[in-house]
Amino acid sequence: MKTLSTQVVIVGAGPSGLLLGALLHKAGIEHIIIERQSGDYVLSRIRAGVLEQGTTDLLDYAGVGARMQREGLRHNAFALIFKDAFHRINIADRQGGKHMTIYGQTEVTKDLMDHRAGLGLQTIYEAGDSVAVHDFDTDHPRVTFNKGGEAMEIKARFIAGCDGYHGVCRASVPTGAIQNFEKVYPFGWLGVLSDTPPVYHEVTYSNTERGFALSSMRSMTRSRYYIQCGIDEKVESWSDERFWAEFKTRIDPEAAKRLVTGPSLEKSIAPLRSFVADPMRFGSMFLAGDAAHIVPPTGAKGLNLAAGDVNVLSQAISEYFQEKSKAGIDNYSARCLRRVWNAERFSWWFTSLMHKFPDTEGFGQKIQEAELDYLVHSEAALQSITENYVGLAH
Ligand code: APR
Ligand code: PHB
Repeated sequence: MKTLSTQVVIVGAGPSGLLLGALLHKAGIEHIIIERQSGDYVLSRIRAGVLEQGTTDLLDYAGVGARMQREGLRHNAFALIFKDAFHRINIADRQGGKHMTIYGQTEVTKDLMDHRAGLGLQTIYEAGDSVAVHDFDTDHPRVTFNKGGEAMEIKARFIAGCDGYHGVCRASVPTGAIQNFEKVYPFGWLGVLSDTPPVYHEVTYSNTERGFALSSMRSMTRSRYYIQCGIDEKVESWSDERFWAEFKTRIDPEAAKRLVTGPSLEKSIAPLRSFVADPMRFGSMFLAGDAAHIVPPTGAKGLNLAAGDVNVLSQAISEYFQEKSKAGIDNYSARCLRRVWNAERFSWWFTSLMHKFPDTEGFGQKIQEAELDYLVHSEAALQSITENYVGLAH
């Protein structure tokens, strides 16, 4: 068996693993990333595209923010539609000038990969299903895998489990040592990416009789739209024509008239789920990002939460090596979980507010309408939604 040694082995080269790698490198800590798939596969996944200011600041600090600053769209507001009326909600005016940046997760991932390649940092791709974590209840954890027919092992002081919801790290924890909290929603999102000008200039969430819709974008010439769909629906049954016809019914009538349609570049259905693993640390192994928690996409908190985790983790690991202090690593789970549950609450609430629930009768619907009405007419409620949307301070 071939053995490598490093300080931290990161499992997973999604945005969490790559950003953690950039932050550890900046702190002078050696690491190796091991990824199941190829780099191209990782880049083919289309995900959300709204970055909180804390996330853009962190990407800048890590040295990967230049293209995002040039090409990202700065948004000071988002909008809600219900009962055919459009309500613009200004964030910046209410939150001391804070704003959001529209920049796709795929682009963030690409910038992190290019940065890594430029620095010559080691990423082992295409390790397949062979990756296994060992001895994380000791100070000498190991990761083993096969690469090109050869058995390999990486020895490190810490393992960072950045391997997403289906990863091997959380799955390797003995069942008694972990508690999982989960909620599955009775619908999915059908998403379409197309080279058409966005129908709204700002991210717009609609609550309609036919269900939820979201109008977002990647640039002024590329739209990203979603509609709520049934949990068992197949993407094959949604032709582009059918999607556009349905989408049109879920935006306001003026926007429906000006909507530009075109062929889809990508079309997929994603289920909606809330999930939290507690704790996020097991001896020498730490979970970060989707490996530890999932939020439904309403509010686009997923990537922002992942960035928050790896920020805390890189500081904790650097305190351990540089100041010989265990305070940061001992506090990692509690510190992250507080922020995570705040975002879980907001994402669940925003999801509940904006979607059509098959099981709520007239009463549930009327309560939803009353809450929306209250929200857009109460300054206290607007303060609260904008504070959460832009990201709570921690
Ligand atoms: N060994 C090595 N790598 C693995 C393994 C394994 N056994 N299992 C999974 N991986 C890899 C996946 O192939 C993927 O590239 O880990 C990576 C995890 O990446 P993501 O799923 O994107 O998770 P994360 O980096 O935490 O990103 C969080 O992604 O899902 C969105 O909303 C979420 O925006 C948030 C972001
Ligand atoms: C997206 O642009 O993909 C997006 C925007 C806002 C959300 C979710 C996704 O709440």
